[in-house]
Amino acid sequence: SPASQPYRTGYHFQPPKNWMNDPNGPMIYKGIYHLFYQYNPKGAVWGNIVWAHSTSTNLVDWFPHPIAIQPSQPSDINGCWSGSATLLRGGRPAILYTGINPENQQVQNLAEPKNYSDPFLIEWVKSSGNPLMAPTPTNMINSSSFRDPTTAWLGSDGRWRVIVGSKRNARGMAILYRSKNFVNWVKAKHPLHSKNGTGMWECPDFYPVSKVPVGFDTSENGPTLKHVLKVSLDDTKHDQYTIGNYNEVRDVYVPDEGQIEGAGGLRYDYGKYYASKTFFDSEKKRRILWGWVNESSSTESDIKKGWSGVQAIPRTVWLDASGKQLLQWPIPEIEYLRTNKVELSRQVLKPGTTLEVNGISAAQADVESFFVAKNLDKAEAFDPKWTDPQILCSRKGASVKGSLGPFGLLVLASKGLEEYTAVFFRVFKGQNKYVVLMCSDQSRSSLDNTNDKTTYGAFVDVDPVQGFLSLNLRSLIDHSIVESFGGRGKVCITARVYPTQAIESSARLLVFNNGTEGIELTKMDAWSMKRAQI
Ligand code: FRU
Repeated sequence: SPASQPYRTGYHFQPPKNWMNDPNGPMIYKGIYHLFYQYNPKGAVWGNIVWAHSTSTNLVDWFPHPIAIQPSQPSDINGCWSGSATLLRGGRPAILYTGINPENQQVQNLAEPKNYSDPFLIEWVKSSGNPLMAPTPTNMINSSSFRDPTTAWLGSDGRWRVIVGSKRNARGMAILYRSKNFVNWVKAKHPLHSKNGTGMWECPDFYPVSKVPVGFDTSENGPTLKHVLKVSLDDTKHDQYTIGNYNEVRDVYVPDEGQIEGAGGLRYDYGKYYASKTFFDSEKKRRILWGWVNESSSTESDIKKGWSGVQAIPRTVWLDASGKQLLQWPIPEIEYLRTNKVELSRQVLKPGTTLEVNGISAAQADVESFFVAKNLDKAEAFDPKWTDPQILCSRKGASVKGSLGPFGLLVLASKGLEEYTAVFFRVFKGQNKYVVLMCSDQSRSSLDNTNDKTTYGAFVDVDPVQGFLSLNLRSLIDHSIVESFGGRGKVCITARVYPTQAIESSARLLVFNNGTEGIELTKMDAWSMKRAQI
């Protein structure tokens, strides 16, 4: 990233210029990973949406291809919006996507490869039957809230199923369609699932998971599998999921007892992360999650820098041992970019510590830290009124002293700490368990106040073992993005930041403890990250 473009990333996926939003149609075909994405070929703001396309053999380095799907027929003349890929019998790919028709209605279309022997799937042919699903005067579908078909799954009756995001008044809905041949689709009488008060469900995703860190084909089901329904809440711009069961006979999804739907529910990411989509990697038997990370800068500055939007580092997802939440971890392939390792060995971070980690390119780094909090009896009392972790993090930022914490990292920090992004933990003593708060505090991230510097936070569901609380923190730092994983993938927080001084070689990395109790840093491994070929 040259001096004029200090915010372009070194190892995150982004096109050379212009606007990007949702990841679309991720899949692996003939050993090649495909990523399509919502793209404006004409500028750095949303509009003129087409499917841009890149491929990769390692999910890190990417090769660009021509636009794969663009407006060309009545059923998509006003835009080719989000959708998904499905591998049909014999592994033949098919894409279902939302088209905007001349009446600006949202309809669902099919596109298929022109040449199945091309592993790069450069050319796509649209079905002559398009649109295959559309609002009609009788089917009760809201024509401006009917979009983003999922990867389809095959039932044991030999019929394909797909869901499309929708709403009826304030009721978010996953409209279900079935088909024998992938061309003639029949709307089911009942949605797969719906929930009143949650608003429009964009980009739904529906897939099986289990407690072992392996993935399953989208069509798999059985007594040992749970299902995840993720929806992108248009009202809050958050990707929210529940864990539950897919009843194949009734063709409904039922969230487990205790799973919260809508704004207060579980999130893939408690920072900026939206319109995500998973796919099953049949070669490495894992489920991989892609997610779009929008800018936190003004539209004017996006236009000035000529681009907007990055994709988060792909994550593997699986079910936590509790069965109550997912775990996520960056794909191991990203580790091949690691270089110039710097290690801090076991030490106690005394109250007031700020310790610089020297010797890495702190603007483009991967940092993994292992903290242990020991004097748990010294933890501050948790006020049960603190129900919103994000608000708690903004009230208790990195500079607010506590007892067990705040401790963690100052990333993208300038020389005199005029700028830094703080990623940290605080430990509280609750009614009958400890409460661990993880924060990503952007309030001091930039001296440029035109940026959105909202602080993010989440509770991490970890318990002490033999009186010690071990807290793992991994942060992927890349110029204007900080992706943090707490508690070995229990909580992810992604932030966009735009430092004016802490850029390129002037950026620093520090570890800190601003609590009154010592915290053990068992180990820290920090690497400079090489640039990916994108
Ligand atoms: C989500 C979304 C989708 C839509 C697409 C349009 O960010 O609004 O619902 O299909 O983006 O670009």
